[in-house]
Amino acid sequence: MAKLNAVVLLFAFFILLTTTVNGDESSNTKVQVKYKHGKKYCDKGWECKGWSIYCCNLTITDYFQTYQFENLFSKRNTPIAHAVGFWDYHSFINAASLFEPLGFGTTGNKTTQMMEIAAFLGHVGSKTSCGYGVATGGPLAWGLCYNHEMSPAQTYCDDYYKLTYPCTPGAEYYGRGAIPIYWNYNYGAAGEALKVNLLDHPEYIEQNATLAFQAAIWKWMTPIKKSQPSAHDAFVGNWKPTKNDTMENRVPGFGATMNILYGEGVCGQGDVDSMNNIVSHYLYYLDLLGVGRERAGTHDVLTCAEQRPFNPNTKLAAS
Ligand SMILES: *[C@@H]1O[C@H](CO)[C@@H](O)[C@H](O)[C@H]1NC(C)=O
Ligand SMILES: *[C@@H]1O[C@H](CO)[C@@H](O)[C@H](O)[C@H]1NC(C)=O
Ligand SMILES: *[C@@H]1O[C@H](CO)[C@@H](O)[C@H](O)[C@H]1NC(C)=O
Ligand SMILES: *[C@@H]1O[C@H](CO)[C@@H](O)[C@H](O)[C@H]1NC(C)=O
Repeated sequence: MAKLNAVVLLFAFFILLTTTVNGDESSNTKVQVKYKHGKKYCDKGWECKGWSIYCCNLTITDYFQTYQFENLFSKRNTPIAHAVGFWDYHSFINAASLFEPLGFGTTGNKTTQMMEIAAFLGHVGSKTSCGYGVATGGPLAWGLCYNHEMSPAQTYCDDYYKLTYPCTPGAEYYGRGAIPIYWNYNYGAAGEALKVNLLDHPEYIEQNATLAFQAAIWKWMTPIKKSQPSAHDAFVGNWKPTKNDTMENRVPGFGATMNILYGEGVCGQGDVDSMNNIVSHYLYYLDLLGVGRERAGTHDVLTCAEQRPFNPNTKLAAS
């Protein structure tokens, strides 16, 4: 009886509606909507699955399509690129679908959504580029040229984590992926989150583009420490800086995403090349997507030149 009451109550709370829209890629995507305590929740099937407030907004395929991906990464399949045939639009969308219900590319209005994709891919493009000053198409056209570090000088095994994330004999934890991950503990944590045994098989990331994007988006969506924002939260404005943050010039925006992902390798050193290269990719993508670089904000928001690193003295990923 109690069970029945609960079911009745459930129906009293949820008004279920079903509508049909025509998506670009998959026509007739079913959108389901329900309201709970005055809030709207949606489920859009494969791309934005599970009841989420974020799934009521546009999904990534609504505003970011194959031709745009091709524009952003136009040189990735030229013969001199190092990962010819590896990266494609569908891997990105498949990977993103895991995180769209959590707000990845689905937070805020369309402009904010497109800016987050430009920001995330700006990091990706910069970290995987083989472009240089006089490369054809310009240095910014060569994102997704690599899918792993070319000449690793070490195996990136940190024994400090031998109890939680022990290195597998023979495995090498050099940089791999769309925003490369390094070190046994990063592979271990990413593998746990994605339910893939990356500690034993770090090589999966350079064999599977969906996984390579998943690991990168996971990194974008996940704080390094509980008290800190994720790059996603810092970018879309979910994060409210503390007094300390303000004192140390850490403000929400693209600059803070670099601070979170790279820390002192890139931030707090003025307008250095390692930082400017990431910023340039982001601005280039904003233009290509038609959002326009003028929306990127002022120097203090866009860069982390004057920001004190969130995590000084930690061994963060090199590039
Ligand atoms: C959904 O989009 C609207 C505007 O398009 C925006 O105001 C709202 O914040 C978005 N919802 C979420 C959960 O971000
Ligand atoms: C979208 O949201 C941003 C940030 O909240 C805001 O600055 C901008 O004016 C909004 N754009 C539109 C078209 O509503
Ligand atoms: C690639 O990785 C994804 C995500 O973990 C998985 O669903 C898919 O089966 C993998 N593909 C191959 C060919 O192993
Ligand atoms: C604020 O910064 C000071 C000095 O850098 C530090 O000792 C303190 O722990 C910080 N407080 C918080 C809440 O992070």
